[in-house]
This record gives sequence, C-alpha cells and structure tokens, in this order.
Amino acid sequence: MKKVITYGTFDLLHYGHINLLKRAKALGDYLIVGLSTNEFNKEKGKACYFSYEERKSLLESIRYVDLVIPERSWEQKIDDIKEYKVDVFVIGDDWKGKFDYLKDYCEVIYLSRTPEISTTKIKKELSFGKMAVVK
Ligand code: CTP
Repeated sequence: MKKVITYGTFDLLHYGHINLLKRAKALGDYLIVGLSTNEFNKEKGKACYFSYEERKSLLESIRYVDLVIPERSWEQKIDDIKEYKVDVFVIGDDWKGKFDYLKDYCEVIYLSRTPEISTTKIKKELSFGKMAVVK
C-alpha cells in the first residue's frame, strides 16, 4: 500500500484544500494529514478561526483523507515518515524547495496551488463584508 502524507492548517476549509487533498490521495492509496495544532499555529504566527478538533473533524469527513495526526513542530516530519512508512510527501508549491531535505526518506512532490483562494483571503473578504454591512 502506497502511503502519502501532507501537512497544513486547513482553517475555514475551502475548495483549494479539497483540490490539494484529492490530488494528494491520487498519488497513492492512503492519505495522512498532519494538521497543525493551535499551539503550533501560534508559533507560525497564524490564528485559526476553527479549533484543532473542529478542523480535524472536517478533514476526517473528506473521502480522500484516511488519517489525521497532529503537527506540533517543524522537526517531526522525518519521524512521521518513518513511523507511518510514508512513500510520498506532498504539499502545495507555495512551499517549493522547502522540504527537499525529505528526499532522503521518501518521494517529495509539490503540487500547484489552486489560484485565487486562500484562508487568508476568505478572512480578509469576510471582515471587509462585515464592515461594509455595518456602514
Ligand atoms: N493550498 C492549495 N491551494 C490553495 C490554498 C492552499 O493547494 N488555493 C494547499 C497549500 O499549498 C497546502 C494546503 O493546501 O499544501 C494547506 O494550506 P493552508 O496553508 O492550510 O491553506 P491556505 O488557504 O493557504 O491558508 P493561509 O491563507 O492561512 O496561508
């Protein structure tokens, strides 16, 4: 069985995330998602709208996702790859080159991002919408 792993925050789940997960799963038979914990997000300077448990539950309900594990640090990837016997590491090409060091442990693939959508964009546009309504 070919195992694939990807990592991310997946806050305010959107179609860019689904596209990524669908293509990630198509690269193998079993897809693991390392989901950033709230604490790790703080370290990355990100604040989530949904809690870890909410984001996890959303991801687990997606047909392409087989297992969700917590991502607590930048350094855990090699251990995860060994522990789960991962064959392919996949991530969006906004990270291109950043995880090439994992090539010693498994295949590394950067997938093109879906254009014009991101959690940041949703957050910005919704808060703008709220202000516009208040005015
Ligand atoms: N992703 C993608 N296409 C998008 C947005 C995200 O392929 N339009 C991918 C990212 O490259 C990453 C995964 O989805 O592999 C999770 O990304 P995440 O950072 O959680 O989502 P973003 O929408 O990029 O969030 P933010 O705006 O907070 O950076």
